[in-house]
Amino acid sequence: MELPYYSAFRGTSNDKAVELSYELMEWFKPEKLVRSFFTSGGSDSVETCLRLARQYHKVRGEGERTKFISLKKGYHGTHFGGASVNGNANFRRNYEPLLPGCFQLPAPWTYRNPFGTDNSQEIANRIIALMEEEIAFQGADTIAAMIMEPVLGAGGVIVPHETFMPMVREVCDKHGILLIADEVITAFGRTGDVHGSRLWGVAPDMMCTAKAVTNSYFPFGAAMIGEKVAEAFESNKDATGNIGHGYTYSAHPVGCAAALATLAETKKARVWENAKARGVELQAGLAKLKEKHQIVGDTRGIGLMAAVELVADRETKAPACKAAVAAAFDGAYEAGVTIRVSGNNIILSPPLIITSSDVSRMVDAIDKGLAAASNA
Ligand SMILES: Cc1ncc(COP(=O)(O)O)c(C=O)c1O
Repeated sequence: MELPYYSAFRGTSNDKAVELSYELMEWFKPEKLVRSFFTSGGSDSVETCLRLARQYHKVRGEGERTKFISLKKGYHGTHFGGASVNGNANFRRNYEPLLPGCFQLPAPWTYRNPFGTDNSQEIANRIIALMEEEIAFQGADTIAAMIMEPVLGAGGVIVPHETFMPMVREVCDKHGILLIADEVITAFGRTGDVHGSRLWGVAPDMMCTAKAVTNSYFPFGAAMIGEKVAEAFESNKDATGNIGHGYTYSAHPVGCAAALATLAETKKARVWENAKARGVELQAGLAKLKEKHQIVGDTRGIGLMAAVELVADRETKAPACKAAVAAAFDGAYEAGVTIRVSGNNIILSPPLIITSSDVSRMVDAIDKGLAAASNA
């Protein structure tokens, strides 16, 4: 007797979407993210935020604000908008030309950066100075939004200095630029806080979520919209406020039901607390592996997102060869743990409910993988 599906494109809804909108508003109350735009995944959520950011400025009579700023090493999915603000040539080069008007700042990366320092506060300050310079060069009144991951995930688990995102927020506010937090990885517990923006004490204007909102039981995402942006749309009286954006499967009731069920478990288990505690153990275990294996150039991460960077030479930081990385994968796999390798990085994103003994098992298996890699 329940309606299995109805499109949410043009002012219609369904019971599960209404319930989930309310639930998400509760999750993001401190940041005043009061509206949800439902999608089928991360790339859709990013595209939604980018498009609505441009429209927000048009609605307010600042239609020249169309450009986007982002970070090198950032990953924002593979739609044309997301790929255009993306900071990795692998996802750009073969698909160019991408959107005009997208500019990338250096990543807040301690291990490799163009600033000749490993002081993460100094790196943050230098990037903020470059951000100010780029905004002055482009003209603040031409820039729609800055999009960033609170912790860069696919780019190699890059954890910025704690002052970085708050400083980005300040610069955006100063120049009327929207801040979009891409939390497709970091929302709902991964960093050891409820979400990555909260970890850094920042309230973004919009947030892209997916992945953990349903823990992949159903392909689903939510673009969260802040009060300021929602008000601009909802008080608009002319056609610029009509949202010509959406997907057939936006607010799919099965996805909304999966999200409601997942978020109830996430909240009950307070998985972010486990992510934080297990993350400390994981980082300690990985640091020991760095002491033991010369092939490890760097280990880093926060909560349950971590990376082990493999190098051929610690002095020059030359990346380890493909055969060594493949041997690390095979060695860990034979020891019973599947790891993800990306370039010369091992990237770890284990379930948020893992136990201390799971962490030890992971570290032991990676130890075996690194031993194999060192002999490759
Ligand atoms: C930060 C970030 N944004 C966007 C995406 C794209 O999400 P999807 O693969 O669901 O389209 C990802 C995927 O890993 C991501 O990590």
